[in-house]
Amino acid sequence: MNTKLLGDSMEKKNQMNGISRRKFLQTGATFVASTVVAGFGASKILGAANTASTVRTMKYVTLNNGIKMPILGFGTLYLTGSDGEKCISDAITVGYRLIDTATIYNNEDAVGAGIKRSGVNREELFVTSKVWVDDSGYEKTKTAFETSLEKLGLDYLDLYLIHRPRGDVKGSWKAMEELYKEKRIRAIGVSNFEPNQINEFFADSEIKPALNQIETHAYFQQPGAHEFLNQHKIQMQAWSPFAQGRNGMFTNETLSEIGKKYNKTNAQVCLRWHYQRGIVTIPRTSQIAHMTENLDIFDFELDATDMNAISGLDLNTTQFPEWE
Ligand SMILES: NC(=O)c1ccc[n+]([C@@H]2O[C@H](COP(=O)([O-])OP(=O)(O)OC[C@H]3O[C@@H](n4cnc5c(N)ncnc54)[C@H](OP(=O)(O)O)[C@@H]3O)[C@@H](O)[C@H]2O)c1
Repeated sequence: MNTKLLGDSMEKKNQMNGISRRKFLQTGATFVASTVVAGFGASKILGAANTASTVRTMKYVTLNNGIKMPILGFGTLYLTGSDGEKCISDAITVGYRLIDTATIYNNEDAVGAGIKRSGVNREELFVTSKVWVDDSGYEKTKTAFETSLEKLGLDYLDLYLIHRPRGDVKGSWKAMEELYKEKRIRAIGVSNFEPNQINEFFADSEIKPALNQIETHAYFQQPGAHEFLNQHKIQMQAWSPFAQGRNGMFTNETLSEIGKKYNKTNAQVCLRWHYQRGIVTIPRTSQIAHMTENLDIFDFELDATDMNAISGLDLNTTQFPEWE
């Protein structure tokens, strides 16, 4: 599939179908399954420094409830305390607008402080958090959500996910559906759910998940899950898009050979590959040079030969067996 062409046509569609934050607040977030689109949009964003060098082109997907989400964001696992706060502020300053956190990362306070420190308006950001398994169930999820908001210093979340398919998933989902209808959350979704678990838990739910965040990278490509999620208009999001560098991801020769053709690094080839498959990524880094490097993926295009070569790297197994 030519995703560039898809991106161009979807961009026009998004202009018509996209629901802005202001409109969301005015009208509420109606779930309209029949107008589901998962496509690309684009816009120029400015880093807080507001200089020509910080102008970057960000691309967006449109979730199944019509809201727009940056296709490339910033992961915050292990970024805690004052160092974490600085990383998050730096990331926003260089141009990231999607920030991914979770209760279990123990850094929602640092993420909130980083957002504040960046000086960028809340409305420009897309903030995700996740309810951990210890808080599964209706009441606990409601309480966990309030705690997350308080730690983040925010009055709404853009996306709230069930972190893992454990415990009382249906109870958590009911709580999240209510929070969504109350406009406390702009979209709700899941993480680490297998296709059969999505069928099991959401076949008769009033609101379908907008997104599933799962381990996806060159060594664990998840084509079956990708196809399932596309069919069901559920946005796929990749966690650990670099597999944290395991198994030599940053020195992999196939990726390096491809990168040489475009003067790009292995990291950029990985992120571009995700982008061309329509997958939202949230790479994490504590280094400003890597933050900017990871954003610079919108000025080249992998061809079919490159995409096939990367397909050949799939080991079809998790690189994080300790988290299973
Ligand atoms: N839902 C879930 O269950 C789940 C699970 C895991 C992760 N996540 C989310 O996904 C995010 C990303 O995954 P991750 O943090 O596990 O790992 P990752 O993004 O795959 O890799 C992070 C590692 O890559 C390095 N790195 C980043 N950019 C680089 C570059 N351009 N060149 C060389 N090295 C680079 C970083 O080191 P430097 O700091 O030195 O750059 C860091 O060691 C997390 O932060 C979290 O938000 C979700």
